Amino acid sequence: MSDPAETPIAYDRIRAVEWNNGAVKLIDQRKLPASYEHLRLESVADVARAITDMVVRGAPAIGVTAAYGVVLAARSRYREDPAAWKTAIEQDLQQLAAARPTAVNLRWAVDRMRGLLDGVSGDPAPALLQEARRIHAEDIAANHRMGELGSALIEPGSGVLTHCNTGALATGGYGTALGVVRAGVAGGRIKSVYADETRPWLQGARLTAWELVEDGIPVTLIADGAAAHLMRQGRVQWVIVGSDRIAANGDVANKIGTYAVAVAARHHGVKFMVVAPTSTVDLETASGADVPIENRDADEVLGCGARRIAPEGAGAWNPAFDITPAALIDAIVTEKGVVSTPDRDKIAAMMAA
Ligand code: MRU
Repeated sequence: MSDPAETPIAYDRIRAVEWNNGAVKLIDQRKLPASYEHLRLESVADVARAITDMVVRGAPAIGVTAAYGVVLAARSRYREDPAAWKTAIEQDLQQLAAARPTAVNLRWAVDRMRGLLDGVSGDPAPALLQEARRIHAEDIAANHRMGELGSALIEPGSGVLTHCNTGALATGGYGTALGVVRAGVAGGRIKSVYADETRPWLQGARLTAWELVEDGIPVTLIADGAAAHLMRQGRVQWVIVGSDRIAANGDVANKIGTYAVAVAARHHGVKFMVVAPTSTVDLETASGADVPIENRDADEVLGCGARRIAPEGAGAWNPAFDITPAALIDAIVTEKGVVSTPDRDKIAAMMAA
């Protein structure tokens, strides 16, 4: 299989994650757009920390990163003790899977890599690297497929709103919801793109806007609180978002603020599309109520970036994700197809297909 990092096509040039000369190379997304820097990680502990600290973020991207992290873990454990590495690596796998709690792609990728261990003999690194590259390539291919499927649902000349960052930075490449935006713009179906700034991490303002500007796609940022007003003015026909976990009943966990956008969309007759590969679908999670929601540091809300905004003494609540009930979703798009008005049976049928 060709290296996905070496096969860029139009609108598909950014790689958040790469395997590079025996190490994991990440764009440091905490620094964008002010500076474009890479980190080179050579240990599984550094990879897990990078995921926790948001150097790399976005559900599919942290899955791909963790897969490459397993290669680093296996290489080091095998060097330490070729007879006992298969037992010793388990703590590394658990450390990776626990680096963030909500996006199921992380656990999915670690489980898929773990599935290879029993069958490996001798140096495990080559076989595991091949599997990690396969996970990476499959994610990019899924995104292109979802771009075609999702954009086909959109009437030519539409305006769309997206939330958070779901582009190449959040995935193996190209993007989920932002892949649909890329395909929709390229195909003339999308005429205007609005992006929520996405407090508190500002993934929309810092990352989505950066990706679209890099691609020459005009983007209009709005404050999160402007979304309902935008819809009321008839400027958008679709909201298009990604997901960190899709429960068996079609409920969707995604970046905090997604639920509010979905409620506003339904009120205004704006369609709501969720775009995510099947690695995001977790049939073991019965409904949105069962999704572990990451709570992050209050300081992220009390300030903006490094600058403190709120007065000393104020508290903050900082859930990083919320749940959009299936009833508010018009379409879930995966690489396997489009599920309209999702429910438990339709999700099960799509996954079994
Ligand atoms: O906290 P983040 O930046 O990792 O959150 C990312 C999101 O919520 C994305 O919308 C989601 O992972 C889908 S990315 C294709």
